[in-house]
Amino acid sequence: MGLNRGRLRWIIKDGVPITDCAGAIKGIIKHCRHDQTVSLGIYISVPFCRTKCSYCNFASDVFSRVLFDRYVERVCADIENAPVIAREVGGQIERGADSVYLGGGTPTVLDTAQLERIFATARANLEVQSDAEITVECAPGTLTQETLDALLRCGVNRVSLGVQSFVDQEAAAVGRLHKRTTVLEDISRLRAAGITNINVDLIAGLPHQTAESWNVSLEETIATGVPHVSVYMLEVDEDSRLGRELMAGGIRYHAHFVPDDEATADFYLAACERLDAAGVPQYEISNFARQGFQSRHNLKYWTRQPYFGFGVDAHSMLVSATPDQGAVRFASPDSLEHYIAEAPLQRTEVSRQAALEESFFLGLRLTRGLDLGELSADFGEEALGNFENEVSQFLKGGLMEIDGRYVRLTPQGRLLSNEVFQRFLSPLKPAEVVRATMM
Ligand SMILES: C[S@@+](CC[C@H](N)C(=O)[O-])C[C@H]1O[C@@H](n2cnc3c(N)ncnc32)[C@H](O)[C@@H]1O
Ligand code: SF4
Repeated sequence: MGLNRGRLRWIIKDGVPITDCAGAIKGIIKHCRHDQTVSLGIYISVPFCRTKCSYCNFASDVFSRVLFDRYVERVCADIENAPVIAREVGGQIERGADSVYLGGGTPTVLDTAQLERIFATARANLEVQSDAEITVECAPGTLTQETLDALLRCGVNRVSLGVQSFVDQEAAAVGRLHKRTTVLEDISRLRAAGITNINVDLIAGLPHQTAESWNVSLEETIATGVPHVSVYMLEVDEDSRLGRELMAGGIRYHAHFVPDDEATADFYLAACERLDAAGVPQYEISNFARQGFQSRHNLKYWTRQPYFGFGVDAHSMLVSATPDQGAVRFASPDSLEHYIAEAPLQRTEVSRQAALEESFFLGLRLTRGLDLGELSADFGEEALGNFENEVSQFLKGGLMEIDGRYVRLTPQGRLLSNEVFQRFLSPLKPAEVVRATMM
């Protein structure tokens, strides 16, 4: 098995303290049933960036500002049309949304009027609760005072900064436009404006990174005192410029300075230890938070609570409108052109078997692990028995451990999580189902 360089993109971020593990794990299954009232998560994608980072494989790019208005128009039309979309895919919309996540891309490149229009439309149509967690992703250096004021007017109470590295040479090598000082200034301005719930994204395995320089990024992150940190191992994707250079050779994107898998694994493990010691413990494969600051929105993905995504490459999972049918997943096109041209959504019914598999591989992402007792109560012991072989092999191999009713990945298992998860997916599962929980 190769090292899991980077996350599968079904990771997300943020929010609510999980004090009652059993209750939260229960949500993996129960929250998608008709007899439960749960709040909705809303994801809105903005696929625009100032520059395209060499490693990035997200559905984001540099587009003319002329397109921004047309895109916002289209997203807002979808938000207004949400009940119709839900009906067409056979899903139901929960009453009330307790999280809104504006991601991308870099939403803060939009004009303030465009940002305000998106939030106003969401609030007017989707019953956003007054205490909702409202996150915006932001590339350091894109937060002008005007934008910050607009975010406050929109009720944004959480900002996720794509820092990647506090070492200027590393950030510059992958095409980032910010420096260490830009990040520190952004954090102080956010705090001065009253936004203290801040996440810092870091990437382990960037070109030029060494154990020493990684340590600098970790220590700088800890010194800022932000309550949430995401650590992703560099995912080398053949669709990124860095990935293409790694395969074909070349020097433009510094591919020959990418640390090897072993070094990247060491960086990741060092981050887990260091952040834990600093009071920012890991709660998910790529996510770390001080108590009370786990990402409410991202927890919805891992615990199979309903969420509705709007915009390019946005994924949704709603409770099925048909009693006893579980859930329905659907995704919008991953190209701006197709999205604006109103290309159809891709829809997948989540069968009982698929729901069980999802419960396994999403629940195992969480540090607390999976409650086998709950799973067996919900799916039946017989259904769980199908996974007995896999689980016992991973236990023997040291990739999983059992603690009472809970089964979880070990630190080594987290490094190889993609390979572990593959073993819980039936071979016939369409790729779309797997991608459905990505962001
Ligand atoms: C969609 S980006 C949003 C943040 C914002 N666009 C920025 O980069 O400043 C979310 C995060 O995904 C991570 N990411 C993107 N491409 C990655 C890759 N190839 N490998 C690992 N992490 C990646 C980065 O940490 C990035 O901050
Ligand atoms: S990492 Fe963020 S800023 Fe860079 S291209 Fe990807 S989405 Fe845009």
